[in-house]
Amino acid sequence: MISTVATKPFDDQKPGTSGLRKKVPHFAQENYAENFLQAIFDATERPAGSAVVIGGDGRYLNATVIRKAIRMAAANGVAKVIVGQNGLLSTPAASNLIRQRKAAGGIVLSASHNPGGPDGDFGIKYNIANGGPAPEGVTDAIYRRTKEIQDYRIWDGEAPDLSLIGTSRLGQMEVEIVDPVADYAALMETLFDFGKIRAAIQGGLTLRFDAMHAVTGPYATEILERRLGAPEGTVLNGVPSEDFGGGHPDPNVVWAAPLVDLLMGPTAPDFGAASDGDGDRNMILGRGIVVTPSDSLAVLAANAHLAPGYAKGIAGIARSMPTSQAADRVAQKRGIGIYETPTGWKFFGNLLDAGKVTICGEESAGTGSDHVREKDGLWAVLLWLNILAERGQSVAEIVKGHWAEFGRNYYQRHDYEEVDKAAAEELMNSLRGRLASMAGQRFGTLVVSEADDFSYKDPIDGSVSTGQGVRIVFSGGSRIVFRLSGTGTVGATLRVYLERFEPDPARHDLPVEVALKELVETADAIGEIKARTGRAEPDVRT
Ligand code: G1P
Ligand code: ZN
Repeated sequence: MISTVATKPFDDQKPGTSGLRKKVPHFAQENYAENFLQAIFDATERPAGSAVVIGGDGRYLNATVIRKAIRMAAANGVAKVIVGQNGLLSTPAASNLIRQRKAAGGIVLSASHNPGGPDGDFGIKYNIANGGPAPEGVTDAIYRRTKEIQDYRIWDGEAPDLSLIGTSRLGQMEVEIVDPVADYAALMETLFDFGKIRAAIQGGLTLRFDAMHAVTGPYATEILERRLGAPEGTVLNGVPSEDFGGGHPDPNVVWAAPLVDLLMGPTAPDFGAASDGDGDRNMILGRGIVVTPSDSLAVLAANAHLAPGYAKGIAGIARSMPTSQAADRVAQKRGIGIYETPTGWKFFGNLLDAGKVTICGEESAGTGSDHVREKDGLWAVLLWLNILAERGQSVAEIVKGHWAEFGRNYYQRHDYEEVDKAAAEELMNSLRGRLASMAGQRFGTLVVSEADDFSYKDPIDGSVSTGQGVRIVFSGGSRIVFRLSGTGTVGATLRVYLERFEPDPARHDLPVEVALKELVETADAIGEIKARTGRAEPDVRT
């Protein structure tokens, strides 16, 4: 039986960089999740008979909202839902399932790397039939619907037990509960030389993977320990918990500090990695070295042909605008395409679908390829392992060799979190107002060569996205980028991205702080960060 429940629109359901993300108590308000889900069912296309994939990162509210989503799907004429067992699906695994099963789309419940639990964050994002995040046309349509919604439809009966793999019915709708790992692990076996990686591990290659109490635990345990034969205990914090063990499931030097300490210490394994709440981000470490995501993207692009899935070479590379230009140097040398897109994985979808690029990445610890339409943490780990197994060198040797060949792009991102929203917006507006007069200005040894507010015209569908971040480029290629986060849930987060290119191998061993000192000072001078936000230091440097 279907109930139609009267509701009223909420005025704050505009999806951000990656879906609708709010604090748990906000999401738990009566009808809040239901309204957004109904807007998704109303505003998206579903060919007759097609399925919708549903799963999430296991955070607090995950199972509750999944059961609601299943009941609402049944009441909205969905033919079939495919749901991860216990409501779990990593974001890349959901993307893969949508593609494998030719589903109409997917509802992915996650707030990515944000903390979970009753006071943490929750989120809902919609992915389209190519497996990727809904493009702006779709998220705008969903948002418009949230502003006019008057009721939602829900099946009266209970959703099936999420722990039981198998197929059942809810009214007319089929509900298939699947092993969340199996199809994803099978896909990885087609891309990478598992035999070679297994042999390297048997031959003494040591590794640790920190799942950060989040969704990748079961995936990493199956793939790294069972299929690749890494010893038990290789996967750390491998059991997903609703509040991620009380931490932030954010794979960076701050939140994955124990792993970083291990890799910098006397008992370091050869390779270390971590992933985030929903499994799409990655952090890569070697003994004594943290590989920045921008460098990792460049190294993976330069070496991908060593893995069977990419043996024919890659078609091109795409990176988000604030990501360092290290990948550009690989593309230039190899004579392949390089695309600079706005922040957010959704901007890669069209380029991947059109076959223009094979590998994509963002400075925020996201790398991936055309195997799915999301970034993919474990994919990056496996590609690194495949490269290590093929080259027989250490992570540090590979990275330093890369710099020697292509030059080094020193890089850091500074985040100022929970800044007063109005102050942050004024800072950005003030910068925008000064862009036209900036070229030619000198700051210490730096002279501005170009300054703009990044806008992007999608080369495939012609859509234009404006206001994507202020870029200030200096002669010699150094850059400062200012933008406001689109994923935060409190106040505003100002992100300042600093980059300096150094061609001279004799200068590739400087501490990053030293290499970027002048740019950091210049960023404060141009952005008036201290004066406008009251912050003398960033909260996080990644
Ligand atoms: C952040 C990252 C961005 C990433 C997004 C979703 O967005 O900067 O690269 O795609 O999370 O994981 P932001 O908060 O900067 O808008
Ligand atoms: Zn994520």
